[in-house]
Amino acid sequence: MNEQIPSALDLDPDFEPVSNTSDNPTFTSVLSARLQRRTLMKGSVGAALVGIMGISLAGCSDDDDDNNSSGGGASDESPTNLGFRAVNVSNANQIVVPEGYSAKAFVPSGTPLTGNYPAYLDDGTNTGADQENQVGTHHDGMHFYPIDVKTGGNSSSEGLLVLNHEYINQSTLHPSGPTGQSTGGPRPSDEVRKEVAAHGVSVIHIRRDEAGEWDVVFGSAFNRRITGATPMEIRGPARGFDKLITAYSPDATRTRGTLNNCAHGPTPWNTYLAAEENWAGYFVNSDDPQPREHERYGVGSTGNRYYWHTSDGNEDVYTRFDASIQGASAANDYRNEPNNFGWMVEIDPFAPESTPQKRTALGRFAHEGVIFAPAVEGEPVVCYSGDDARFEYIYKFVSTQPYYATTAGGYLLNEGTLYVAKFNEDGSGEWLPLVYGETGLTDSGGFISQADVLVNTRLAADAVGATRMDRPEWGAVDPRTGEVYFTLTNNSNRTEADTDAANPLGPNPTGHIIRWLERDKDYTATEFDWDIFVFAGEPGTETVVDGETLVELDDSNMFNSPDGLWFDYNGRLWIQTDGSDAPPYQNNMMLAANPVNREIKRFFVGPVGAEVTGVATTPDSKTMFVNIQHPREFWPDASVERSRDATVIVTRDDGGVIGA
Ligand code: FEO
Ligand code: CA
Ligand code: CA
Repeated sequence: MNEQIPSALDLDPDFEPVSNTSDNPTFTSVLSARLQRRTLMKGSVGAALVGIMGISLAGCSDDDDDNNSSGGGASDESPTNLGFRAVNVSNANQIVVPEGYSAKAFVPSGTPLTGNYPAYLDDGTNTGADQENQVGTHHDGMHFYPIDVKTGGNSSSEGLLVLNHEYINQSTLHPSGPTGQSTGGPRPSDEVRKEVAAHGVSVIHIRRDEAGEWDVVFGSAFNRRITGATPMEIRGPARGFDKLITAYSPDATRTRGTLNNCAHGPTPWNTYLAAEENWAGYFVNSDDPQPREHERYGVGSTGNRYYWHTSDGNEDVYTRFDASIQGASAANDYRNEPNNFGWMVEIDPFAPESTPQKRTALGRFAHEGVIFAPAVEGEPVVCYSGDDARFEYIYKFVSTQPYYATTAGGYLLNEGTLYVAKFNEDGSGEWLPLVYGETGLTDSGGFISQADVLVNTRLAADAVGATRMDRPEWGAVDPRTGEVYFTLTNNSNRTEADTDAANPLGPNPTGHIIRWLERDKDYTATEFDWDIFVFAGEPGTETVVDGETLVELDDSNMFNSPDGLWFDYNGRLWIQTDGSDAPPYQNNMMLAANPVNREIKRFFVGPVGAEVTGVATTPDSKTMFVNIQHPREFWPDASVERSRDATVIVTRDDGGVIGA
């Protein structure tokens, strides 16, 4: 049925606008200078041979007792070994997992969760009020919190599953698709209410019964929906800043809602950070010129993604998505509302009445997610976040206050230094501080305060000369070595002349995974050493380090557009894809990688048209949760002509550790 097919905008993996027109230097001109150590990509994608610089991190690790850079397999006793048989690519409309594993859909969009527990209606007739009490759509980043973690426990049979709802499929959300969308409005008020409510975050209390089945604990006070309209506090340096003043919050301390929550990050104190990624697409600003804090992020001038601002109820909570100047001052309109988005949002899943906090010290951009380095008693808290758009940057935050387990909390994220990454051609790298008053971030450079630097994080990063990356998506920290990995999903707009050592393909249609080790293994260091872990691509794509082929992709592990990335508790690396589902890759998938020897195996394939994004396990690694976003062909229930996003529970039939 045609109306069941999402629009191109709904599904476009390249939705991220290109709004970085800075001309920060690339390293093409110095590539040939020193080639003594390098990572190479060989294969069928792009140029036959692309040489770049980079060092082998395995070679400089002092954990080389179990490093096996010869390409051989790790021993079966290794906690990072991959013990399953790889699955083939698939274009079937079902989940594929290895022999000996089972997969089952769980908490699909519309699952009743709170309030009066409205049942999901498979004809799209649930109301906006219903959706506010149901699980949202487009499941994405996710974490499992053991129910007893706050008291030092690690339950693997009961916990809080917290997940993001990145965006919506208007076609399946309403009985006959959206009303007024094709004409740019007006949109019926209750359709808008439902769409706003399908966004945000779900906190779901779940428990495994004696038969091993997971269920929602209905009636639990922990169950919660946070939506695009939930009241939130602004924290950190941008709190109170003029550029955040709105009619809703004339003192610039509050806003409503979080949107386009892609990935996430559990904090060391067991709260949840939700990232605001492609928020710019929800706004329109027809002013000419737009202020730089809108223009640099790609806010549209004539239309936006869902036209919520045209709600026929004219409610302030929806009309605010028009950021054009309309009132006498910022306190009379929503000219600044886009500046209340683009942050990381902290949610305490164990405090259902708590107000989510937007942590502005971590910067404002298209946050894909955030990954924390392991917290060390008495040391600053460190976390990393990528800005997923073509030619944007990777950032690191280092707190001012030290971490102490007994007192740690969100206040640690209110004060600190935000850095942006510069990847040098020789395999070294630098963290460049984005601090008002330093390195051009001054009044004469166009910045008036640290709040101004943070609201304009991208412009600040442009100014200090950061490296323009191929769409940084998720990050992950190896619990064994401390190496930090990031997916660079693809970049259709990079040209060969615009390549650099860290982004060596122009264009880069299938992406790669970069990693680095902070100097002296100190996460607060301002220098690091990096290499490329793997180039994605078709069979025959090689990743070569120091002249040795360490990965050659074949039918068992070819993949494209790496996106989700997570180290499990044993140190296996899980790689999720968000590519086209065309041959030879077919449906999107999840692979497991052994970071010690770079062995990679395909573990999971999703249904037709879906993105595989979001992965977590219980502490015992015996239940895995994987999210399926925007399935296209009546999944998970083929008898219902309406697809639903869902979490998939993966278990081993023998009850063993997933991946081992
Ligand atoms: Fe929401 Fe960059 O993926
Ligand atoms: Ca993503
Ligand atoms: Ca993606």
